[in-house]
Amino acid sequence: MEFRHLGRSGLMVSEISYGNWITHGSQVEEDAARECVRAALDEGITTFDTADVYAGTKAEEVLGRALKGVRRESLEIFTKVYWPTGAGPNDRGLSRKHITESVHGSLRRLQTDYVDLYQAHRFDNETPLEETLKTFDDLVRQGKVLYVGVSEWTADQIAQALKIADEMGFDRLVSNQPQYSMLWRVIEAEVVPLSEKEGLSQIVWSPIAQGVLTGKYLPGQPPPAGSRATDPSGGNFISRMLNDDVLTRVQDLKPIADDLGLSMAQLAVAWVLQNPNVASAIIGATKPEQVRDNVKASGVKLDAEVLKKVDDVLGPVVERDPAKTVSPEKRP
Ligand SMILES: NC(=O)c1ccc[n+]([C@@H]2O[C@H](COP(=O)([O-])OP(=O)(O)OC[C@H]3O[C@@H](n4cnc5c(N)ncnc54)[C@H](OP(=O)(O)O)[C@@H]3O)[C@@H](O)[C@H]2O)c1
Repeated sequence: MEFRHLGRSGLMVSEISYGNWITHGSQVEEDAARECVRAALDEGITTFDTADVYAGTKAEEVLGRALKGVRRESLEIFTKVYWPTGAGPNDRGLSRKHITESVHGSLRRLQTDYVDLYQAHRFDNETPLEETLKTFDDLVRQGKVLYVGVSEWTADQIAQALKIADEMGFDRLVSNQPQYSMLWRVIEAEVVPLSEKEGLSQIVWSPIAQGVLTGKYLPGQPPPAGSRATDPSGGNFISRMLNDDVLTRVQDLKPIADDLGLSMAQLAVAWVLQNPNVASAIIGATKPEQVRDNVKASGVKLDAEVLKKVDDVLGPVVERDPAKTVSPEKRP
């Protein structure tokens, strides 16, 4: 496993990290979750990503139990706040009240005294940015959070936050967590150039497009049994990528992977890691063998000719519009 700096900070993260959205506390049983975490640790992954909202807070509990007994200094634990964790109007968003309550819940569920990175899971249009950033800064001073970052923020929102942090002397954001894969490149035009200039990294989610880039979803055929597309909680999220044009083109990536001696999943994870602004690719898994397959992408170099072949195959199905980075207008 290779390691990269998180933004301009001193923190190193494994360039492949393990995340538990849709899986822990939901799609997979606790035993399978533990086996996946064990496989991740055995393969050298030290960075783990979760969120208060995953599986209605159960995912953090499962991860906390799975990591119990592992030397805390050998782990980087990331979580997030914004999406609803309860029914009340204050159980959501980035207010001082909700952030403070949510971080305490996360620490309890993860069975740890601090998280390494705390991320605003979307931009909250109903809370002054100063309030959010001051609260994040307070958590850093209290030692409950070591670094702060965001997820799915636009370049403009990140720039606003950095300006306030600099004026007020708050801790600066070190990272953004966007969706990024061969199929979804909306950060490339604006978010990445700003982040490079300002010293933020991307920690990217769904690098294999939730399984689509493994090639296991075939055009014109029902999804394989037990895959995310057949799961009640996961099916909704993956469905927009399951159209025959995308799936046919993805099948045409297979010869490129074969020529390189890579699995399609490894090619997809390696592809996001070619972007030097990416500090880590967060992989999800329902089975330990998926973790063991995908981690082999660490350290793989893809030359310009390979990158061009990928672009030629995928052509018009690649999404590049920066306007696709959106947070809800009103809190959900
Ligand atoms: N910040 C955000 O808003 C946000 C949003 C989404 C995710 N995330 C983070 O990113 C993490 C990863 O997201 P993701 O789970 O969508 O990532 P992903 O790695 O693109 O997809 C993972 C899924 O693909 C399938 N898969 C993985 N490896 C495979 C292999 N070798 N062969 C066949 N199928 C394979 C598995 O599902 P099946 O076995 O069920 O098919 C697995 O659960 C999350 O856990 C979370 O930490 C963040």
